[in-house]
Amino acid sequence: MTVQELRKQFPALSREVYCRPLIYLDNAATTQRPQSVIDVQSDSALLHNGNTHRAVHALAGEATRAYEGAREAVRAFIGAESADEIVFTSGTTASINLVASSFGDKFIGSGDEIIIAESEHHSDIIPWQLLCQRKGAKIVVLPVDESGHLEIDKLPSLLTKHTKLVCVAHVSNVLGLVNPIKEIVSLAHSHGVPVLVDGAQAVAHLAVDVKDLDCDFYVFSGHKMYAATGTGVLYAKKEILEQMPPFMGGGEMIETVSWEGSTYAPIPFKFEAGTPNINSVPTFVPAIDLVKSINGECAAELSKIRNFVYEALASDERIVPRGTTRNIDEKLPLFSFSVKGVHHEDLALVLDKMGIALRSGHMCAQPLMTRYGVTGMLRASFAPYNTLEEAKQFIEALDKAIELLI
Ligand code: ALA
Repeated sequence: MTVQELRKQFPALSREVYCRPLIYLDNAATTQRPQSVIDVQSDSALLHNGNTHRAVHALAGEATRAYEGAREAVRAFIGAESADEIVFTSGTTASINLVASSFGDKFIGSGDEIIIAESEHHSDIIPWQLLCQRKGAKIVVLPVDESGHLEIDKLPSLLTKHTKLVCVAHVSNVLGLVNPIKEIVSLAHSHGVPVLVDGAQAVAHLAVDVKDLDCDFYVFSGHKMYAATGTGVLYAKKEILEQMPPFMGGGEMIETVSWEGSTYAPIPFKFEAGTPNINSVPTFVPAIDLVKSINGECAAELSKIRNFVYEALASDERIVPRGTTRNIDEKLPLFSFSVKGVHHEDLALVLDKMGIALRSGHMCAQPLMTRYGVTGMLRASFAPYNTLEEAKQFIEALDKAIELLI
């Protein structure tokens, strides 16, 4: 598939903003939606709308098959052993909150410690802070160095008899560097400590194999990998999920209910109380098909974009790039940076008027901003439907915007 063929599948990419062609570089916040995803979602709502797992009528059966088909597609996509290990949620945030509430309430108590990487998104910090406040546990920070790499050599001394969990992103939403998950898992497991991996930024770009990573939890969102919003995944090893108590009660998560007490459905349904996102979860199927179809020319163009933008930002003395590396292959096409003497928000506003959509601000990673002594940054994040020409236009527009504001 060529990049132009790929672009044609995304209606939003052919629109204009402020009478200029849209250059969408905020893919780490949310990717655009392909027509195939929009079609599955609208067909589900228009033609196959029944409640899942509940009724014998035709529409309920169609909805259930589409929903469970998505579970199997996700299982195969991340290499999980069993579809029972795939819990659908509303997104990465909900998945982590589920683990914090359920696993946390059962296995983490007073005096225990949770190791969290300094570069984590707030979604992988706040649920653990809330848990620590409830239980009297403590967060221990795994620092990042100036370049943005995790200081893995410090991990062995942070792992103690009090450590109950390690939480780390596969790829930070600010730094774009692929973290050494296998090494972290191996170190943590040698101390009997499970590992939760936030894969929100990784799944659209990397081939994820949870068995190979050997992580205990892997969480991600649908909307950052072309599926519908309000969809997310919690993968957890079966033996762990089975030990976790339900965190939310309601319909469909039960086996029997009586006034004397209730028993719960087997995994994964124990964690899916209430009517699920019937019309949107099936969009994982076309989204996964799309991710798997991106290779050849599109992948090569994205590598060229990454190398070009990395060099352009690194060689500009006005710019302070974050997430720097000597091995470009460990970097996703995701670039956060500051411009000396110019506020990130002003630059984002000027670039927006030029048709270029970027993210600016603390990017839900305030501890990392504090680490670098800034209140925010500017971020350009690319997807395989972006072109090298767009990358060049972005660098030219950035230069003009800086000259205007400096
Ligand atoms: N987590 C998303 C981002 O980094 C929203 O922009």
